[in-house]
Amino acid sequence: MFCIDKMKKVDGKLSPVRPMGDIWLDIGINNLHNEGGVDFRNGKKPEKLISRIIEMITDEGDWVLDSFAGSGTTGAVAHKMRRRWIMVELGEHCYTHIIPRLKRVIDGEDQAGISSTVGWKGGGGFRFYKLAPSLLEKDKYGNWVISKQYNAEMLSEAVCKLEGFKYNPDKNVYWKHGQSTENDYIFVTTQFVNQQLADDIADQMKEDETLLVCCKAFNVNQEDFPNITFKKIPQSVLEKCEFGRDDYSLNVENLPMMEKEPEQIELFDEGDVE
Ligand SMILES: C[S@@+](CC[C@H](N)C(=O)[O-])C[C@H]1O[C@@H](n2cnc3c(N)ncnc32)[C@H](O)[C@@H]1O
Repeated sequence: MFCIDKMKKVDGKLSPVRPMGDIWLDIGINNLHNEGGVDFRNGKKPEKLISRIIEMITDEGDWVLDSFAGSGTTGAVAHKMRRRWIMVELGEHCYTHIIPRLKRVIDGEDQAGISSTVGWKGGGGFRFYKLAPSLLEKDKYGNWVISKQYNAEMLSEAVCKLEGFKYNPDKNVYWKHGQSTENDYIFVTTQFVNQQLADDIADQMKEDETLLVCCKAFNVNQEDFPNITFKKIPQSVLEKCEFGRDDYSLNVENLPMMEKEPEQIELFDEGDVE
C-alpha cells in the first residue's frame, strides 16, 4: 500500500514518483528540431514539456488555449492527448508550420514527440479561421466610414452578423440578403435608398414579411413602410463592436452570437482533412 502511494503512471508506465520541483532537467531537447516536421528556431518547445504541463492541469476533453502558437506545439500535443484546443497566430507560419503540422498529427503521420508515449494513431480535425479587417475605419475628418477593404458581399455578410441575421442571399430576390426568422429579412446596400426604391421593395414583399434595410443613406417617408426599418450603416453597427483597434480592450461579454458557423470560412472539419 505504502509503495503504491508513491507510484504513478508516467509515460504509460507505473513508476516511483516524488513531488516535482521547480527545475525540470529531465526533458531533453536532442531531437527537438525534428518534432512535428517543422523547423522553428529559438521558439519551439519540446512536446514532452508541453505534455507534462497539460497533463498537470487538464483532463481529456478540456480546452487548451495558446494565443502565441508559433510552430503549433501546444495544439499538436493537446490534440494527441485528446484535449480540445484553440491556437492563435499572426505570422505566416500559420500556413507554413501550424496547418501542415496539425494535418500530419490528424493523419497519424506525425510519430515524433509524444506520439509513441500516448499511442497516437491519428484522428480528429480542426477548423481554421482568418480574422477579417476592421469593418469601419475613421476617415481624415475623424468620421466612421466603411473600410475600402470590404466589397459588397463582405459588407453584407458582416452587417448580417452584427445585426443578428443569418447571411443567406436569395438568388432571385435582390433585397433578401439574410434572415433572422422565417419572415424577417435584411437588405444591406451602399446605395442611397429613396422613396422609389423603397416602394419597389415594398411591392415585392408579402404581407407577413418584415425587412431591415441597412444602407449608407436614405430619404423615405417611413410611415409609408410599416414593415420596413431603415438604418444607416456606420451608425447601425457602431455600438455592436469596437472597430479600428489593434489593442485588447474589446468587451467580449455581450458580443452578438452566431447561430451556426458559416461554412465558407471552414477550411477543415472532422474527417475532412486531406
Ligand atoms: C515563441 S513563439 C511560440 C512558440 C510555441 N510555443 C512553439 O513551441 O512553437 C511566439 C509566437 O507568438 C506569435 N505572436 C506574437 N504576438 C502575437 C499576437 N499578438 N497574436 C498572435 N500571435 C502572436 C509570434 O508570431 C510567434 O510565432
